[in-house]
Amino acid sequence: MSAKFSIQPIGRFAGGSQPVRRPKEFACFSYDDNHEFHLDDSSLKYYYTPQLGADLSKGFDTFQKQDDSGDDHLDSLLKTIIAHEKETGKKIDANLVTWRGMMTKIMGAPFERFDGFEMNATLYQGCLFIEENNQYKMASKAKEGQGKPRRGPPLEVMQFWGYKFETLSTLPAPWPDTSREFIENRENEIVNNKAQYCSVVRTGVGKTILCLGGEVDAIWDSKPAEKGSPINWVELKTSAEIRNQGDMEAFHRKLMKYWIQSFLLGVPKIMVGLRTRDGILVDVKEIETQKIPEIVGSQPNPKWNADMCVNFAAVFLEWLTKTVNDEGVWRITRQPQSSTIDVFKVEETGHGNILSDEFKDWRIKL
Ligand code: A3P
Ligand code: MG
Ligand code: MG
Repeated sequence: MSAKFSIQPIGRFAGGSQPVRRPKEFACFSYDDNHEFHLDDSSLKYYYTPQLGADLSKGFDTFQKQDDSGDDHLDSLLKTIIAHEKETGKKIDANLVTWRGMMTKIMGAPFERFDGFEMNATLYQGCLFIEENNQYKMASKAKEGQGKPRRGPPLEVMQFWGYKFETLSTLPAPWPDTSREFIENRENEIVNNKAQYCSVVRTGVGKTILCLGGEVDAIWDSKPAEKGSPINWVELKTSAEIRNQGDMEAFHRKLMKYWIQSFLLGVPKIMVGLRTRDGILVDVKEIETQKIPEIVGSQPNPKWNADMCVNFAAVFLEWLTKTVNDEGVWRITRQPQSSTIDVFKVEETGHGNILSDEFKDWRIKL
């Protein structure tokens, strides 16, 4: 069984946006400084304005970097879903369960001509579960920075800048509980990207109900008492300072990923740390997620359109849930520059490693 979904022509996704649901967090989990899993919000960070002038490369030599070469499948997300279902006594009602990152790739596909992806999918109890294909992820990573020679700092240092900015802009507790000394010494904190807070939300695009798990960088104030109320999440990004029209266009292009990523989890605010070409933090720009579509759309020659991303995702997901209609493991791929997304079966039976035994054992009992 194999099928193709045509991305082109993208004109057919134009027009008013298909219905979307506001994402609501119904569970969360944390990884601690050793990347160990906890069913709580212990790794939640609080936004607090960073000091400008900081050198984002400082501390690169002591970076506590998460080794992401292993394959974690959907394990932590499924653990969190099990705990939630134990609490409520019933199955979540999603048609699709995946990491936010997979949905970001799908929604951006009409406008990301050069990005390929590979995912594994399986149908279980009427719900589609999608994971990233780890081999493909590692192979793409190995190719990064190969080919054309580049100027400037090494790629690993530039990736460190993003985590350094997170350390400079957050506190482990709300600010009234944090000492002045800690706030002023954040420049000397050891940067560790093993810790993460992940939000698990229920959301919807077109007719598909999604359960997504994804990392949230920080919160502006604190979580509202009432479950399901909007949360003042903050997404942190770094980007080169904007000096001319070309920089501005490149930034507007980047805003697509910022927007999709934040839109999917209901993150209302993005703080962009603007840096010099050699990694000195010079400014912080606050962007409201919901204003991004019109900021980009009002440019003379916009490179992407938010409604088209939503409409594409709505139509694609409806097609996908009809196509992956029977047991086994399926592959969902888009080759770089290809105008189609290909879906085919790679294993006739079972669920590969997409579903943990823990999850299947739980669901059999439920
Ligand atoms: P910036 O994007 O701010 O530079 P996120 O923004 O999703 O919270 O990710 C935090 C940081 O992780 C990024 O910071 C970047 O440094 C690094 N990062 C995220 N995705 C990456 C990828 N695909 N490859 C390499 N580094 C990545
Ligand atoms: Mg993040
Ligand atoms: Mg971020």
